[in-house]
Amino acid sequence: MGHRGRVHPPLGLGLWNLGRWTPKEEAGLRPVIDAAFEARVPWIDTAEVYGGGRSEQLLGDALARLEAGAPRPFLSSKLSYDHLRARQVRPSLQGTLRRLGLASLDLYLVHFPNPRVPLAETMGELAALEREGKVGAVGVSNFSVEELEAARAALGETELVANQLPFNLLEREEAEPVREYCRRNGIVIEAYSPLARGLLAGRFRTAGPRAGDPRRGRGLFDRERWPTTRTKVRALNALAEEAGVPLVAIALHWLFGQGAAPVFGSGTVEQLRATLQAARSPPAKGVLERADRIARGDAD
Ligand SMILES: NC(=O)c1ccc[n+]([C@@H]2O[C@H](COP(=O)([O-])OP(=O)(O)OC[C@H]3O[C@@H](n4cnc5c(N)ncnc54)[C@H](OP(=O)(O)O)[C@@H]3O)[C@@H](O)[C@H]2O)c1
Repeated sequence: MGHRGRVHPPLGLGLWNLGRWTPKEEAGLRPVIDAAFEARVPWIDTAEVYGGGRSEQLLGDALARLEAGAPRPFLSSKLSYDHLRARQVRPSLQGTLRRLGLASLDLYLVHFPNPRVPLAETMGELAALEREGKVGAVGVSNFSVEELEAARAALGETELVANQLPFNLLEREEAEPVREYCRRNGIVIEAYSPLARGLLAGRFRTAGPRAGDPRRGRGLFDRERWPTTRTKVRALNALAEEAGVPLVAIALHWLFGQGAAPVFGSGTVEQLRATLQAARSPPAKGVLERADRIARGDAD
């Protein structure tokens, strides 16, 4: 990964928390981060926009609680879509590093492309930060092939090491068109929402999210899509039960098989532990193939 030869971690915990940033939700996230450190989760992902900096701050607080010399995970954060002007990039990273309490960040991603700002502006600054060692590597998120090409051209000698995209058994529309390009150019696909926001973790088998839940009516939970989603999710849960494996294991190992690095969310310490256990429990190849067919709508 990049000039420094580090290997991208295979699995990470994301600290978006589904956009829930009340004091109660924050209090729930603290033990999840501590438990992730304890379990040696290899990678933690955050962004300056998550909770308006609260996510980075909670992670920084947890890093400060670590004993001196204790190993810490690989850390990635993201530059906001609203901060892509050359003059905004460095102050944004400085804010991130201040909240994390670090002198440098392992991986810095552009969160979303912004058609109003030429990529050369942003990437020129990011390349300078990489040369100075303020960031170990540079990546992007939610980029198409055309945007990846423009970003790489603007980065010059600095490699573009990752593209973070929505990717799971049930949502492949954004990852499919860029996979081959990423493979050819050594760009890791970081799969976000790998558990389809809980659908691939045994949740919402009968009813969708309740009123007030940020997932309600969006993406796979959209009114139009929900009947198809529910049918597939029921079949996937039945497959998991028949095979005697958690659906989370099927979801994660299907992504590993696609060569992607999943970055999952955990609302509780129990969920974190269940997800990590599932990552250590590969289902049989035939189970993954059948899950793939069910999710594509080719089997029931
Ligand atoms: N780059 C981007 O634009 C972008 C966009 C979205 C996400 N991301 C990254 O990807 C990370 C993960 O995204 P996500 O939260 O959508 O991912 P996800 O892993 O698909 O969904 C996480 C949610 O699924 C439920 N869940 C997780 N494990 C479970 C278990 N073992 N049993 C039952 N339910 C379980 C929880 O819902 P409850 O909390 O309701 O229990 C949890 O909050 C984010 O934190 C962020 O780092 C990036």
